[in-house]
Amino acid sequence: MANQIREEEVVCVTGANGFIGTWIVKTLLQKHYKIHATIFPNSDPSHLFTLHPEAKSRITIFPVNILDSNAVSSAIKNCSGVFHVASPCTLEDPTDPQKELLEPAVQGTLNVLEASKRAGVKRVVLTSSISAMVPNPNWPEKTAIDETSWTDVEYCKLRGKWYPSFNWDAFQHVEKPNVSCSCGDNLVRLTGFPDETQPGLTPCKDAARRLIDLGLVFTPIQDAIREAAESLMAKGFLQRTPSQN
Ligand SMILES: NC(=O)c1ccc[n+]([C@@H]2O[C@H](COP(=O)([O-])OP(=O)(O)OC[C@H]3O[C@@H](n4cnc5c(N)ncnc54)[C@H](OP(=O)(O)O)[C@@H]3O)[C@@H](O)[C@H]2O)c1
Repeated sequence: MANQIREEEVVCVTGANGFIGTWIVKTLLQKHYKIHATIFPNSDPSHLFTLHPEAKSRITIFPVNILDSNAVSSAIKNCSGVFHVASPCTLEDPTDPQKELLEPAVQGTLNVLEASKRAGVKRVVLTSSISAMVPNPNWPEKTAIDETSWTDVEYCKLRGKWYPSFNWDAFQHVEKPNVSCSCGDNLVRLTGFPDETQPGLTPCKDAARRLIDLGLVFTPIQDAIREAAESLMAKGFLQRTPSQN
């Protein structure tokens, strides 16, 4: 869908008012898509309507608990693409991991994939997490982590590491017939920075090639940090030092 303008194409974004969902909605609006935006029932989507002058006419809000398969189907009906972002995203220790994390992540993903298949969706994009690939104490040292390297779920569950567990459990369900899935984080080979940035990770050549071939455009880290700092200063969260004035 990169670099194309599709006036009448409808795309569903689940969890549209979350962090990643909001950026996806903004990008889709800039590319003139119509959007079925699902939000958790009773949560606030108002900021989505400030993202673009045409936001009001192009966004339709669907209050959807991702565990409700009928509600998921209604939101995905008539869509040609789906970004599935609605999932619990927390590093806090849950009281009931099965109910709070695993069920929404796994059953939610299944509901989205099944509804997408029924609706003839052309592509489903699932945001998984790098934590679907680590930790795994059995992975050999000095070997590049790629799409054959997965988190050891039993290791995580025994140690109460729920975020990697449910990301991996959800990801296992994506290979469904007739549904093409792109799982951004999971296609990444951890890249070769000049210096070690994360202890224990092994650099490898052309790490991002497959993502670039999928159409992803990378922002230089300097630009991303500068833009983040400028945005924080503009909103008053960060003070400009006298030397920067
Ligand atoms: N942010 C990152 O850096 C990052 C990195 C790697 C992977 N990811 C993955 O990307 C996904 C989204 O992350 P995010 O940072 O955008 O998180 P987020 O801001 O918390 O957004 C998640 C959205 O999903 C919604 N949601 C949660 N449970 C739901 C349910 N049962 N039914 C319907 N909606 C539900 C939330 O609604 P409410 O908050 O309104 O309840 C929220 O709008 C997660 O799967 C996360 O693991 C994120």
